[in-house]
Amino acid sequence: MKVLSSNLKKKDSKFKKNFEHMKELVSDLNKKKRLVKIGGSLDARKKHIKRGKLLPRERVKYLLDDKKNIIEIGCLAGLNYKNNDIPSGGMISVIGKVSGRDCMIIANDATVKGGTYYPITVKKHLRSLEIARENNLACIHLVDSGGANLQEQTGIFADKDGFGRIFYEMAKMSSQGIPQISAVLGSCTAGGAYIPAMSDQTIIVKKNGTIFLGGPHLVEAATGEVSSPQELGGAELHTSLSGVADYFAENEYSALDKVKSILEFINYEKPKILVERKPVKPKYDAKDIYGIVPSDLREQYDVREIISRLVDNSEFEEFKKKYGTTLVTGFSHIMGYPVGIIANNGVLFSESSLKGTHFIQLCEQRRVPIVFLQNISGFIIGKSFEEKGIAKDGAKLVNAVSTVTVPKITIIIGGSFGAGNYAMCGRAYSPRFLFSWPNSKISVMGGEIAAKVLASVKDSQINSSGIKWSNEEKNIFMNNIIKKFNEEGSPYFATSRLWDDGVIDPLETRNILGNSLSFCQNLVTNKENFGVFRM
Ligand code: COA
Repeated sequence: MKVLSSNLKKKDSKFKKNFEHMKELVSDLNKKKRLVKIGGSLDARKKHIKRGKLLPRERVKYLLDDKKNIIEIGCLAGLNYKNNDIPSGGMISVIGKVSGRDCMIIANDATVKGGTYYPITVKKHLRSLEIARENNLACIHLVDSGGANLQEQTGIFADKDGFGRIFYEMAKMSSQGIPQISAVLGSCTAGGAYIPAMSDQTIIVKKNGTIFLGGPHLVEAATGEVSSPQELGGAELHTSLSGVADYFAENEYSALDKVKSILEFINYEKPKILVERKPVKPKYDAKDIYGIVPSDLREQYDVREIISRLVDNSEFEEFKKKYGTTLVTGFSHIMGYPVGIIANNGVLFSESSLKGTHFIQLCEQRRVPIVFLQNISGFIIGKSFEEKGIAKDGAKLVNAVSTVTVPKITIIIGGSFGAGNYAMCGRAYSPRFLFSWPNSKISVMGGEIAAKVLASVKDSQINSSGIKWSNEEKNIFMNNIIKKFNEEGSPYFATSRLWDDGVIDPLETRNILGNSLSFCQNLVTNKENFGVFRM
């Protein structure tokens, strides 16, 4: 197998400039993560701790067998929502091993508005369940929530992907044999009560744990009946009278220990579908990536320089190297797992689209997961390309990306624009995981082009109405659009809305890919039933 060579000139001023630029972006990313990881306000945290509760991140940490090989989902969800942060969307989602089983841990953060569900909290819970379903991960719900955030009820309640969908998914997953385990560590009100109620097994902690469809406030308002939270739905009541919960825990630690113990007795062995090798570090330093990625997104560079810093021993068995050169395809290993890599090296032409389609079929036939390294401004446009059928060739790639059944993992390492996002397995194409680098930009097209398009539309309207606009007016109009696209194209705008599973330091990429590939192995899929079509 071929070890990739590198033409990197580390002494060049360009390398140094890029390096400093990425370093700043990563330092900003880390700062944002540090802040949200604190959770809610100081007062809310003090109140929480005074009640003898662990903070949600401590609960998750206590459960994990191995604190390192984990993936956190949506750490920056809810960032700058209505000009305020909802730290981590009010919920922590972490994938990791508990009692030897790969699990999705979903923990409410009661220090963020009593753990109540904002629209982004619902979205994050559903995304976490989707990941669990697609990868056959046992679900652990650490419940501590006042249920629906009543100020936000229109954004969470009635639509298909509303709060109710969480319980629907839990029922479906349970029917597929994907364990649903709840530990009730705080309040569990109204809709929130259905999380333990819909679980396969439920633990409730003495004193702090409560489950009720209507809390004391609501019951008093509706019926005049006055009762304390414990009388209405405490651990004693639910484990001895109602049977809503199955296990009584004296304190949080014993509740979490019970979760571990339940998982020990689940009759499950992880399938080994990939032929693994011993992981070998890349031959080149991953830190070089900082200097390789241009500070200006429009600048072109050879994506093999990135591949060689992600894959085992920098070995890459390249497919169709000389054909359709704006798309790089080939086989490799990451942390010992076999992968097919599809990476952009320029805009997509007919040839590169056909090459990508052919390569996806090879991965499908050989059951090799695909890693997409996305940095794409879109498909080529223009008369001669339309004549040649770029629309149908691009559609073949989009079709293959949609229908391939092996696990897909996407990393947005640069631009993600227009239909290029589709062809390179953007969010709508259901990659099992999707992470972005802090330099990435995502929008339907670049801001400058969008400004030109809209100015040209307005020009035509103005011409036909006989009114004039000055150059100054036109410039203001265009600059406003560029500004809007810049703001909306930011990876933080995207991640706060969960358009990805998180923004990551490029240096984390290899580990995250390795962990993702390992978690993906829990679900064996059936391959498409056709041969490889030469493109
Ligand atoms: N919707 C919106 N905000 C809510 C809320 C809800 N359902 N429940 C609580 N909050 C807010 C509070 O107004 C408070 O906001 P603030 O910090 O800006 O003052 C914050 O969440 C914390 O609430 P607080 O009551 O001070 O905290 P707590 O830890 O003592 O109790 C709850 C938390 C959730 C147990 C308690 O507030 C409660 O029972 N809320 C009502 C729950 C309910 O009936 N939900 C109905 C769902 S359909």
